[in-house]
Amino acid sequence: MNTFSKKLIAWHGVSGRSGLPWQGNRDPYAVWVSEIMLQQTQVTAVLERYPRFMKRFPTLKKLASADIDDVLAEWAGLGYYSRARNLHACAKQVVQEFAGNFPSDPILLEQLKGIGRSTAGAIAAFAFHERAPILDANVKRILARLFAIDGAIQEKKVNDHLWQLATDLLPNQAENMPVYTQALMDFGATWCTARKPVCIGVEKKCPFVKECQANLSDQVLTLPKKAIKAKSPEFDCDMLLVRSGNFVLLQKRPSKAIWGGLWSLPESVWKSKTERGPKSAPALKELLTSTLPKENIVALAKSIKELKQGNQIKHIFTHRRLWIQIWEGRSAKTVEFLSSDLKWVPLSQLGRYGLPQPIKILLQGLSLARGDDLRN
Ligand code: ADE
Repeated sequence: MNTFSKKLIAWHGVSGRSGLPWQGNRDPYAVWVSEIMLQQTQVTAVLERYPRFMKRFPTLKKLASADIDDVLAEWAGLGYYSRARNLHACAKQVVQEFAGNFPSDPILLEQLKGIGRSTAGAIAAFAFHERAPILDANVKRILARLFAIDGAIQEKKVNDHLWQLATDLLPNQAENMPVYTQALMDFGATWCTARKPVCIGVEKKCPFVKECQANLSDQVLTLPKKAIKAKSPEFDCDMLLVRSGNFVLLQKRPSKAIWGGLWSLPESVWKSKTERGPKSAPALKELLTSTLPKENIVALAKSIKELKQGNQIKHIFTHRRLWIQIWEGRSAKTVEFLSSDLKWVPLSQLGRYGLPQPIKILLQGLSLARGDDLRN
């Protein structure tokens, strides 16, 4: 069905997105950064942050030799921080294993940190005009509808089938790969959308009304089928918001944990959430013991009079939900710590630290009350 690629490219000429800052660039480094940033992040957010990232780390070498803390700080607010850690690791990998040049073969690209099969296809297509397919969630939806594929798209058999279709539909001419790949992404993101595809409206006419098996059999809104998902588990934890004058106490998170390497508030171990609603106040000592390394507790306990129950924040991750109970305290002095993972940070300098999004919002509230600017 090679008319598919021809029709899709023609559609893109009229209705696709153009003028985005990462388009029309064949530099594999620039393509790679944009593709990683565009995963799980809205185009509108990337529009602002992509040029900023490229200005901060203009070349693969600069990124590879940067401090991971600076990369995480630059990524702050975009979420899914493993992308930033992988970006840094991948840059080093390309320098070490490929003399600083990204390979053009999607199979080799896929061996690199943080690059999955679809992203490898996108980089190969955009930067090297390789005839490599992509299959992100948008493309899966388009193909599941076009061919009225009935099984759940998470199933291996269905997924393999979709990859085969994505490969069969590629344009014959390699030079058309960038525009075709962009067209597929744009068509899924703007026309063949999950809830309001244009074929159910009256204003626009989908170019595939006659071929689309889902349209012909009135299944557009029920395809693609998804496996029924178990509800993600819920956890809760306590966090300490201790201030001393204009300073706030931050703790660096272990690199392997969620939000790894970011600076956050001292936090207790997550427990399975058994009850919802207000928590009774634990004793001060108990809270400090559960949130801080042992050797730092005594001095701080002497310096804090009481901890007041603050807000409860709900944060939703991809596979779990976390309820954070904030405990607010004032310390008479900025007690010195033995551990370099604990630090008193002036509220006015929080913008220099990579913080998890909900903590950033919470601290932004404090900073705004003081008139500080959290942005870099
Ligand atoms: N999502 C992933 N890659 C993209 C791209 N190149 N353009 C728009 N959205 C995307």
